[in-house]
Amino acid sequence: MSELPKAAPVAGLPLRPAGAGVFAGRVAIVTGSESGIGRETARTLCESGAAVVLNGRQPERLEHTRHTLAAAGHRVATCVADITDYADCERLVATAVSSFGRLDILVTNASISQRAYFADMQPEVFRRVLDSNVYGSVYPLMAALPHLVASRGSVTFISSISALNGMPSGSAYCAGKAAISNLAHTLRLELAETGMHFGVVHIGFTQNDPEKRVLDAAGQPVPIAHRPPRWQKSQAEVAAIIVRHIRKRKRRTVISFLGRIIVLIHNTLPKLGDWIVLTTIKRMRKFYE
Ligand SMILES: NC(=O)c1ccc[n+]([C@@H]2O[C@H](COP(=O)([O-])OP(=O)(O)OC[C@H]3O[C@@H](n4cnc5c(N)ncnc54)[C@H](OP(=O)(O)O)[C@@H]3O)[C@@H](O)[C@H]2O)c1
Repeated sequence: MSELPKAAPVAGLPLRPAGAGVFAGRVAIVTGSESGIGRETARTLCESGAAVVLNGRQPERLEHTRHTLAAAGHRVATCVADITDYADCERLVATAVSSFGRLDILVTNASISQRAYFADMQPEVFRRVLDSNVYGSVYPLMAALPHLVASRGSVTFISSISALNGMPSGSAYCAGKAAISNLAHTLRLELAETGMHFGVVHIGFTQNDPEKRVLDAAGQPVPIAHRPPRWQKSQAEVAAIIVRHIRKRKRRTVISFLGRIIVLIHNTLPKLGDWIVLTTIKRMRKFYE
């Protein structure tokens, strides 16, 4: 293995008084944290004592989230950055180091989803969705790696239960999320001697910000498909599970009963899994579309 670029060894420098939370003195980047699950994960990390760099592409929304967290007494910085652009990711990591002096935790949460069948999709739309899920995880990690090696840090890739199996109308999204699981496994092996943590959290149906949009086949932003509210966890519940996953340095966390059923059926009775999807897609079309 080629030698990794060096960052100053920084483990053990407290930023907050001891006892201010399990992540006291730790510094985190959460991509796509101006809204949704990312924002709640950033909040939960802050409440656990971490200083957090918030990220997104919309300066006003990012500033609103920063203001809310800072007003609650949390240590936050912001970086407007497109995580599919490597130079932007270098700025994102530089923001963490210049603001708080180190980096311990990376949560790659930013993602674009879709609501479009493969046969209808413009090639460019497929690429945008795939890029946001693959390079949107790869580039922040590449930029952050020397600092995370120095701190024996933690990387959590936010994935979906739809990465555990295929999901009609989610081809590029499912493919991108599935690729990240394999990446995590490979990095765990390649970088075993660094003591770093690489984990994947497979999220199930979760309440969304009302303004959340995904891409249709032509690349237009559209609301997400209908999900029965009783199947949805709150963003705060999901954020608490993500932060526990980071604290325990788990390899894989599958959120929700439905997620665990998908794993079980996919591993043991894959034909039954396909039959369930093909049957429900006829009866519950708006669930997929
Ligand atoms: N909600 C669910 O039911 C559910 C289920 C399974 C998995 N997940 C996963 O959970 C994570 C968060 O989902 P969410 O529901 O909270 O989505 P969301 O509300 O759409 O939030 C995604 C965030 O990512 C940002 N983002 C997207 N592309 C970006 C880019 N290229 N550079 C920087 N920021 C970018 C968005 O900011 P912009 O305003 O800049 O676009 C937004 O702040 C995603 O990885 C998603 O796949 C969610």
